[in-house]
Amino acid sequence: MVPQFLVSVFMLASIANAHFTIEYPEMRGDSFATGASQYNYPCANVNQTSSTNRTMWPLTGGSLNLDLHHQWTYYFVNLGLGTDYPTFNITLTQQLLNETGIGTLCVPQIVLPVGVTISDGQNASIQVVTVGQSGSALYNCADITFSSTATTLSGSSCTNSSNVAVAVVQASNTTTTSHSTSTPSAASGKRSGLISTGGAAVV
Ligand SMILES: *[C@@H]1O[C@H](CO)[C@@H](O)[C@H](O)[C@H]1NC(C)=O
Ligand SMILES: *[C@@H]1O[C@H](CO)[C@@H](O)[C@H](O)[C@H]1NC(C)=O
Ligand SMILES: *[C@@H]1O[C@H](CO)[C@@H](O)[C@H](O)[C@H]1NC(C)=O
Ligand SMILES: *[C@@H]1O[C@H](CO)[C@@H](O)[C@H](O)[C@H]1NC(C)=O
Ligand SMILES: *[C@@H]1O[C@H](CO)[C@@H](O)[C@H](O)[C@H]1NC(C)=O
Ligand SMILES: *[C@@H]1O[C@H](CO)[C@@H](O)[C@H](O)[C@H]1NC(C)=O
Ligand SMILES: *[C@@H]1O[C@H](CO)[C@@H](O)[C@H](O)[C@H]1NC(C)=O
Repeated sequence: MVPQFLVSVFMLASIANAHFTIEYPEMRGDSFATGASQYNYPCANVNQTSSTNRTMWPLTGGSLNLDLHHQWTYYFVNLGLGTDYPTFNITLTQQLLNETGIGTLCVPQIVLPVGVTISDGQNASIQVVTVGQSGSALYNCADITFSSTATTLSGSSCTNSSNVAVAVVQASNTTTTSHSTSTPSAASGKRSGLISTGGAAVV
């Protein structure tokens, strides 16, 4: 009983540390609160209420500031147009991105995809998804209003931690041949699983 209890406490602490937050635009609400869980699609079980705040975003796309707590993670940013619980069917990350480092990642402007035209006053929500090596995903959302007078973050309000880096994951057919023959199945299985997880989440 005692060892199990201690293991449970340790696991809960690890999970809480590994969760992430959207620092900007303002998160819909506290995804660490009772009743919320970042494991829940699409928005961590955080509901839109009368106290939900909307951040003004420029019509061509705005800033995104994340506080990330994993050694590394894949991440996706999706957009849903509408006011109440919109569908997140516009992806703002066209490639599979792999973020390395615990700390702040601030993208000064997430540019909207070609073909998405936004009018002044359009409400929308931003969904950020992080996906770990096992395929387990965490979710957080932020609600915005596109505005012709909104500006992006700049200068000291949008910086990356020095240890934070982002790489585009490239598909590769050379994985199995480039690994030693002692671990071919583990290496190839892991790699193909990661890429298919990312591909599925982008779509
Ligand atoms: C959001 O609403 C659902 C359904 O009413 C509820 O189960 C959930 O606990 C709510 N989330 C929070 C954080 O209160
Ligand atoms: C919205 O902003 C107000 C003022 O900063 C704050 O008191 C409130 O907690 C925010 N609402 C949410 C859901 O975070
Ligand atoms: C996204 O979903 C909304 C609501 O279901 C729908 O009206 C819209 O056409 C969809 N947009 C795209 C790009 O699929
Ligand atoms: C993602 O980055 C981590 C840490 O830099 C690395 O170990 C992992 O292999 C990368 N994943 C892919 C698919 O490149
Ligand atoms: C945007 O959402 C707010 C509530 O957050 C609402 O009062 C307003 O009417 C909405 N605007 C549009 C254009 O739907
Ligand atoms: C932070 O890193 C991302 C990914 O490399 C990059 O797109 C962004 O411009 C960087 N932010 C700043 C403020 O330089
Ligand atoms: C991987 O190999 C398949 C089959 O030969 C080919 O169709 C595909 O284009 C290759 N992908 C890359 C990224 O080279």
